[in-house]
Amino acid sequence: ASGDAAAGEKVFNKCKACHAVGEDAKNKVGPILNGIVGAAAGQVADFKYSDGLVAKAAEGLTWDEETLAAFLAKPKDVVDGTKMSFAGLKKEDEIENVIAYLATFE
Ligand code: HEM
Repeated sequence: ASGDAAAGEKVFNKCKACHAVGEDAKNKVGPILNGIVGAAAGQVADFKYSDGLVAKAAEGLTWDEETLAAFLAKPKDVVDGTKMSFAGLKKEDEIENVIAYLATFE
């Protein structure tokens, strides 16, 4: 990982309307993101994913640095029909940094 987790914490402000991380995190509009780096997609308990994400999960999509970077840049290009209504992060360093931040939550 080449990202800066402290800088990524600020980037995560763009995600917080829909996602939580940390000990008391709960699902919001989007699922909890604890442990997401390296995890299989679509596995958070009690979260209702889109059909598109369920289909990608069934195909074996895993959230490694590469797939996360692509998803965070353009969600709909990675998961056709995703209900993550987010335009995407434009800058490579923002993407790397937010992934580094997410990697600090087990
Ligand atoms: C799904 C990350 C912004 C709503 C996901 C997933 C990740 C992610 C990794 C897949 C989770 C899984 O497979 O369990 C992020 C990050 C964001 C961000 C890092 C900021 C850079 C947002 C925003 C919203 C949102 C702003 C709401 C407007 C959702 C929803 C899903 C999702 C609804 C489920 C998608 C589906 O079922 O198709 N997000 N997200 N996310 N996110 Fe985000």
